[in-house]
Amino acid sequence: MYNLCVIEGDGIGPEVIPAGVRVLQAVLPEVRVHLAEAGWGTFQRRGTPLPPETLALARECGAVLYGAAASPSYGVDGYSVPGVRLRRELACYANLRPTRFLPVPAARKDVDLIVVRENTEDLYIGHEHTEQNGEIGISEKVITRAATARVARKTYEIARASARERVTIVHKASVLVQTDGLFRRVALEIAAEYPDVATDELLVDTAAYWMVKDPLRFDVLLTPNQYGDILSDMAAAWGGGLGLAPSLSMGDDVAIAEPVHGCAPDIAGLNIANPTATILSVALLLRYHWCQPEAARRIEGAVRSALTDGKHTGDIYAEGALSTTAFTDEVIQRL
Ligand code: NAI
Ligand code: MG
Repeated sequence: MYNLCVIEGDGIGPEVIPAGVRVLQAVLPEVRVHLAEAGWGTFQRRGTPLPPETLALARECGAVLYGAAASPSYGVDGYSVPGVRLRRELACYANLRPTRFLPVPAARKDVDLIVVRENTEDLYIGHEHTEQNGEIGISEKVITRAATARVARKTYEIARASARERVTIVHKASVLVQTDGLFRRVALEIAAEYPDVATDELLVDTAAYWMVKDPLRFDVLLTPNQYGDILSDMAAAWGGGLGLAPSLSMGDDVAIAEPVHGCAPDIAGLNIANPTATILSVALLLRYHWCQPEAARRIEGAVRSALTDGKHTGDIYAEGALSTTAFTDEVIQRL
């Protein structure tokens, strides 16, 4: 039985998430969809961005499709981004962000890489404080053996299962000896357990250089949380833009599929958002969590075919742009 907890969130979430659900239901009619709420709108109504029943439902389902949540750039009492907390509560420690060529003008031919980003620690644990009346801001960077080992193992398992050739470990161990140095050391230890997958390593600034200069150099990248956040957005540019970039956060028994983009308030409510990132996130859920690679291939093939036939939303290019729902119809017709 496939149970999916669906959280639309804010902005374009209520437009792109239903598109992903329609595509999923077309390839997996037996899926049971359970709606739950989270985000800024939820916070306004309920005083909490992630109500306990949403968390409970997500746990119970073991699979989540999540849109995005708005968050102001200033601190608001009682508010924190629900996506981050959801990933932490569900122990979804590995964040997969694949970038694969799609037939749109901005994409780089032949690019095909996966950034696997550690999802639970590093600077993003949010242990921050100020000193000297706010004149100094201090943030704690935490890297542990346990969290590094599990994300490294997951990375190599995925590399092996999808016949990938090489994992590149990204770090800045030359400067951050106690944190990135530990990440590097543990990742290399795990790498030794997978002699059939090649391993190399790059300093994060060099990795950024190569991501711009020659993304075809990369196969699978394994990174601490913060570097992965940045490098995967850079990679997304080669994939043709944010409207096309999917992600999957995986734990041992739970996964959260979500587009890389945010809630895009500038285009919300207009039915013009690109649902592709969400639809491809659903395909990742099918492939890596529900072990339904054939259903995943059908979805990816249908998206590719629609784009090849010149069907597209306005973020790809303006002329002849389809609405969110019309583009989704084109994808579903091609399944
Ligand atoms: P954004 O990804 O929402 O938007 C950046 C630009 O890309 C905008 O011009 C937007 O219109 C466009 N865009 C994004 N997704 C698109 C799609 N599917 N189709 C067509 N165009 C698309 O990032 P931004 O503007 O930095 O953040 C907006 C809000 O979203 C903020 O409140 C931010 O905190 C939140 N956010 C939430 C995330 C999450 O919950 N996972 C992730 C990133 C941002
Ligand atoms: Mg980001």
